[in-house]
Amino acid sequence: MQGARPMELVPDSRGSFRMPIVTVTRRLRFNAAHRVHNPSLSDAENTRLFGKCNNPNWHGHNYALEVSVRGPIDERTGYVIDLGQLRDVVEREVIDLTDHRNFNIDVPYMRGINPTTENVVVAMWKVLAPAIAPARLIRLRLWETENNYVDYEGE
Ligand code: NI
Repeated sequence: MQGARPMELVPDSRGSFRMPIVTVTRRLRFNAAHRVHNPSLSDAENTRLFGKCNNPNWHGHNYALEVSVRGPIDERTGYVIDLGQLRDVVEREVIDLTDHRNFNIDVPYMRGINPTTENVVVAMWKVLAPAIAPARLIRLRLWETENNYVDYEGE
């Protein structure tokens, strides 16, 4: 009978059929202040390494966080995950604790961590991966400026 299985099915390696695996991404924006500083180095070394981002009295960035989830398309909804629900989780777990805050002082998941973009994205992963499960977080992309972003995939 035609239509007994969804049109979208793709062959798998064993010769049967399954729903396609798709990556979906939600972007969220926030603003935050920081000072990139390693207290175990001298002031001169901090200035040399971090430049403007070592400014003692902080400075801000307009960040964008892209959250990517990968999985099979759900037959009933046609979604991998409801992006509205994904947004709600990310806002609750990360954005609400971060937006208009200072990474060095205010943000609980960054306590004691030098807030480079690399360190921020890893700290966000540790919070988000379990919160998003059983959906599978596969990448966080954190933009610090229009030209600079970092990717983390849980390694
Ligand atoms: Ni900076």
